[in-house]
Amino acid sequence: MRIVSGIQPTGNLHLGNYLGAIRNWVKMQDDMAAQGGQSLYFLADLHAISMPFEPETLSSNTREMVAALVACGIDPDRSILFNQAQVPQHAELQWLLNGTARMGWLNRMTQWKDKAGKNREGASVALFTYPVLQAADVLLYQATHVPVGEDQKQHLELARDIAQKFNNDFASEENPVFTLPEPIIPPEAARIMSLRDGTAKMSKSDPSDMARINLTDDADTIMKKVKKAKTDPEPLPSEKAGLVGRAEAANLVGIYAVMTGSTVDGVLADFGGEGFGKFKPALGELLVEKLAPINARFVELRQDRGALDAILHKGAEKARALAVPTLDATYKALGL
Ligand code: ADP
Ligand code: NA
Repeated sequence: MRIVSGIQPTGNLHLGNYLGAIRNWVKMQDDMAAQGGQSLYFLADLHAISMPFEPETLSSNTREMVAALVACGIDPDRSILFNQAQVPQHAELQWLLNGTARMGWLNRMTQWKDKAGKNREGASVALFTYPVLQAADVLLYQATHVPVGEDQKQHLELARDIAQKFNNDFASEENPVFTLPEPIIPPEAARIMSLRDGTAKMSKSDPSDMARINLTDDADTIMKKVKKAKTDPEPLPSEKAGLVGRAEAANLVGIYAVMTGSTVDGVLADFGGEGFGKFKPALGELLVEKLAPINARFVELRQDRGALDAILHKGAEKARALAVPTLDATYKALGL
């Protein structure tokens, strides 16, 4: 089993990114290792240039994301962790697959329609061919499984269609060039809401820093943010149904539950009937305890450019070693 998953390089990482995304990659890494499989995680820096971007920000976000992943538990010795740009085989394979992908297939991609909006003429060509690069990202490594959320299912289908057509046109069923990857549903991700508004997602783009817990926040800041989090005057209910219509309370209890590996009902069994004067300090201390080791490693690593570059360099070397045979076989099949 070999899984391949791409991650958008992003800066200003927060608790929502950790609980909603990064923690799942760590879990998949551990599952893969337990089964003798292999996990490849790449920073999708080549994808990032399909939308307006700032070169310096892209470069620093890529490294910040690597620092966060490693601090949160992605182990570069157990997973292959790299960025696309350092493995030129991604872009090369994409070009070769452009010969197989059909305009009609790409025209049907809902993400293209959504992202280009009414301004198709002004969209980058990369935005249109992005799903072909995604196909290359996984086919290059003969991925057997790709974790995909709802929004990415269509792109994985496309990768399979491209692989199948290529195998049909230029190889044979007995001797295919590409493995058709199967989708796997990632472990259910927590959805963390803003500390200032229980109906809005916790996000880096929220103008209020008090609305989120950043992975760079120290213990005092975390305690302060939790204590100031918006709530209501009612005590906590004794079961989940009592949280209906209480978005802020539900969010805080939900965070407590995921951080302890418990359930909402499990947390309410302990805290039901208590007011926030009691619950908030408990939640704050829990967050401090769980995030302190991550925070320490993250803060140290994100300023160690040399160490981050070394991680990416080593990861790219390992990735290239896996990519080259597929790319060679692709050229050969095409008579190139
Ligand atoms: P932001 O909303 O801060 O801009 P991104 O859009 O860059 O975050 O998301 C990066 C990853 O983190 C995505 O996989 C996304 O699903 C996850 N994520 C972001 N915010 C949250 C959140 N509040 N709760 C759960 N997951 C989140
Ligand atoms: Na966002």
